[in-house]
Amino acid sequence: MNAAIQAYTLLDDEDCEARIIAARETLGDSLVILGHHYQRDEVFRHANFTGDSLKLSRQAAASRAMYIVFCGVHFMAEVADILSRPDQIAILPDMSAGCSMADMADLQHVEAAWAELSEVLDADESITPVTYINSAADLKAFCGRHGGIVCTSTNARNVLEWSFKQREKVLFFPDQHLGRNTGYTMGIPLDKMVVWDFDKPRGGLTGEQIQQAKIILWKGFCSVHQMFQSEQIDNFKQKYPETKIISHPESSFEVCQKSDYIGSTEYIIKTIREAEPNTRWLVATELNLVNRLHDQYKHEGKNVHFMSPNVCMCSTMFRIDPQHLAWVLENLVAGHVVNQISVPADVAEQAKLALDRMLEVSP
Ligand code: 13P
Ligand code: SF4
Repeated sequence: MNAAIQAYTLLDDEDCEARIIAARETLGDSLVILGHHYQRDEVFRHANFTGDSLKLSRQAAASRAMYIVFCGVHFMAEVADILSRPDQIAILPDMSAGCSMADMADLQHVEAAWAELSEVLDADESITPVTYINSAADLKAFCGRHGGIVCTSTNARNVLEWSFKQREKVLFFPDQHLGRNTGYTMGIPLDKMVVWDFDKPRGGLTGEQIQQAKIILWKGFCSVHQMFQSEQIDNFKQKYPETKIISHPESSFEVCQKSDYIGSTEYIIKTIREAEPNTRWLVATELNLVNRLHDQYKHEGKNVHFMSPNVCMCSTMFRIDPQHLAWVLENLVAGHVVNQISVPADVAEQAKLALDRMLEVSP
């Protein structure tokens, strides 16, 4: 019998802390814990490796441990399962830790879009499908079998450059902002990037708009990063004109255009870590990471501020709590695997094609 999660939800964080440490000691090298930068501190501190989506994918692929416990969201644990050996086991401490952006594209809608695009042009001849890693495994498999590729916020430019060498156009899903921000920095004008509204026939586009487009952007977005607005930058700069602005590329075009730096969570951390002491930063990314950066670098006189006046955390990342982590680890100690993420072999094989292409072109 598996130990039930209900009993763990009654534990306080300190009890969980001690139990997690003890379980990690018992499991030794058979366990690796991967932690995304958006994880809350009580979980993040237990990770063997921390990183952005690309770095953690590489860690999962390189890991020798029998159990890969992913403190992140569902698509990340799927990638760990796909890139690890078949005998390794990927675990997500709470199965409800999804990603609302990833849920904005599903295979049915993407297949339908491909069929509609094929009425206007030869999609397989002229479009490279690119999925952001924030997507379900079957969408990565779709890209794998259509000569496409996966990207992360770190390598989106390299991936788009590769994609345009294959075919003249890109269908980019699910995040319109990452696609638009990256395309624009590559010199693609805004009017060559059209938005595919998956709720409308033929994406709400005319045949001519599709013919003229370089990038067809899926109408998806991140509910956390859409909270950041360019007026927040203006207001803050009125008070502190010396502020440097740094944003994750899931933020809107307007916010990214007003930013001094744009990049992944790993890039944001590196930039602030390497900045001059006594500098002020306004950051457009998730709150747990921004708070951690502020605490880590305040002794250097660095002031790190969250861009939005409202508290906006990634509520699904937050579902991974010390209680769930203690639960999965103590079950492993007792010989039970709970919350395994297992991608069907045929899907995993095709998704791996698209992931391997990404790893090959990544910096
Ligand atoms: P990174 O790959 O930059 O960590 O981003 C992941 C993510 O989900 C951001 O919202
Ligand atoms: Fe998904 Fe946004 Fe959360 Fe990132 S911050 S995991 S994109 S919902």
